[in-house]
Amino acid sequence: MIRDIPFRVAVDGPSGAGMSTAAKRIAKALSITYIDTGAMYRAVALKILSEGADIDDAEALARMLEDTDVDFIDERAVLDGRDVSDLIRTPEVTAMASASSARPVVRRKLVALQRKMGAKKSVVMDGRDIGTNVFPNAEFKFFMIASPQERARRRFAELAEKDDSPSYEEVLAAISERDYNDSHRAVDPLVKAEDAVEIDTDGMTIDEVSEWMLGKIVERLPEE
Ligand code: DC
Repeated sequence: MIRDIPFRVAVDGPSGAGMSTAAKRIAKALSITYIDTGAMYRAVALKILSEGADIDDAEALARMLEDTDVDFIDERAVLDGRDVSDLIRTPEVTAMASASSARPVVRRKLVALQRKMGAKKSVVMDGRDIGTNVFPNAEFKFFMIASPQERARRRFAELAEKDDSPSYEEVLAAISERDYNDSHRAVDPLVKAEDAVEIDTDGMTIDEVSEWMLGKIVERLPEE
């Protein structure tokens, strides 16, 4: 029975395409572990910022990473034993994560951790390079897309509930810049795996998206 054998669900796409919401729902429906790899890059970025590390000094970065642990407890991101889930969502950390995730030494460390996390149990992992690099043999691969305008609208609606929220134009510009960085970096750029199922989420609700993806998985999993 395949459900007794660990399987991996890779969910990739650009920022704001709804990956984390869909991935979390899939994990819950299948009673398997959700791993937010973006949170892992953010946690390392937070450490770089708090230690004032120089991301252009690969050796110093490597030394820092030797002493770094990133894990999840109940979907909360834990950096060196401390819950950092809220601290990693600031604009400063977002900008540093975008820059530091392009550094090979950072990717090597986190990809190794991610492979370990998905080695012994079934996982849903979302990110940019899961189906292409972390788990090229994942049993299920999805590539979620949405237009930059749609993603900016969703993000703007989320941010509008807070004080000091940026304008729609600022949100759109930030999304476009991150898309560019994520897809043009030399190491593990954001590209669709050839065998990934693409889902264009423009005009779909997150419920519709999650149900559709779940259906694709369940139709290939034997009954329990
Ligand atoms: O999905 P997110 O916005 O939380 O990701 C934070 C940053 O990490 C973003 O700039 C993309 C990068 N990232 C990556 O390079 N590879 C991944 N597997 C996940 C995220």
